[in-house]
Amino acid sequence: MADADTEGAKNYRAEIPQKSEPFFLKGSNELDWGLKNRLANIFSPNSGRTVMLAFDHGYFLGPTSGLERIDLDIVPLTPYADTLMLTRGILRTTIPPTYTGGIVLRASGGPSILKELSDEEIALSVDEAVRLNAAAMAVQVFIGGEHETRSVHNMTRLVDAGNRNGIATLAVTAVGRDMARDAKYMRLATRICAELGATYVKTYYVEDGFDTVAAGCPVPIVIAGGKKIPEEDALELAHHAVQEGAAGVDMGRNIFQAECPVAMIQAVRKVVHEDLAPSQAYELYQTLKSEG
Ligand code: R5P
Repeated sequence: MADADTEGAKNYRAEIPQKSEPFFLKGSNELDWGLKNRLANIFSPNSGRTVMLAFDHGYFLGPTSGLERIDLDIVPLTPYADTLMLTRGILRTTIPPTYTGGIVLRASGGPSILKELSDEEIALSVDEAVRLNAAAMAVQVFIGGEHETRSVHNMTRLVDAGNRNGIATLAVTAVGRDMARDAKYMRLATRICAELGATYVKTYYVEDGFDTVAAGCPVPIVIAGGKKIPEEDALELAHHAVQEGAAGVDMGRNIFQAECPVAMIQAVRKVVHEDLAPSQAYELYQTLKSEG
């Protein structure tokens, strides 16, 4: 039996007010505890930023370059990622359950690269996301695309289900091949996603005016790496994005298609979490690469 005598409890320190600190992530202070806890497993509470390793490309591309053998080429990178963005198929079959970083599950899909890409449906139930201990569900939103409304509604349905279960929703702004990738478009797409409930938004960095994209979006933004560019340029891209307001990167090809992916992800981490200058990060990349 526990001691029911509460008379002995005297250590109240009534002169010390209980702390009530704001949550570290933009726009997330009013979220419930479980959601905040999951977000703290995506974004570092120390830097307020994240390095997400994206390798969900197979959900519409099949086995693309660098992702032929995720077990051999991607699993060794996972200790350096704050979060993995992937499909449930790869999670179950290939990722060791001992991985303790954040899991962001691809939650929309349908068409392959051979078809109209905006024709997506929700492709994951929230029950499955809970079962797989996901921190967030990622959904493509095609602003200006042929199936714009459906993709927005895919997102809002996931937001509703995610909020009921304390799981974040990452809205991925997908830009059609013939659309201008400029700040005006990114402001429109990211703001619509945030207004309609996305917990955070993934978009592309734009050279002219990315700071206005980040400022106009009331939730955190992470940037996609996009197609492979030279390693030094990818580090510059990450640097500019975080200096202009991004809360990190969700980078795929520029890590796993780098000449030395394990060196590249470590260099990206330094830029994102420690504000290392891109030139120094590139030096680090070369050193780590030469060490094999
Ligand atoms: C694309 O829709 C996928 O969600 C990828 O995760 C995303 O494009 C990020 O990868 P990358 O840095 O290769 O662009």
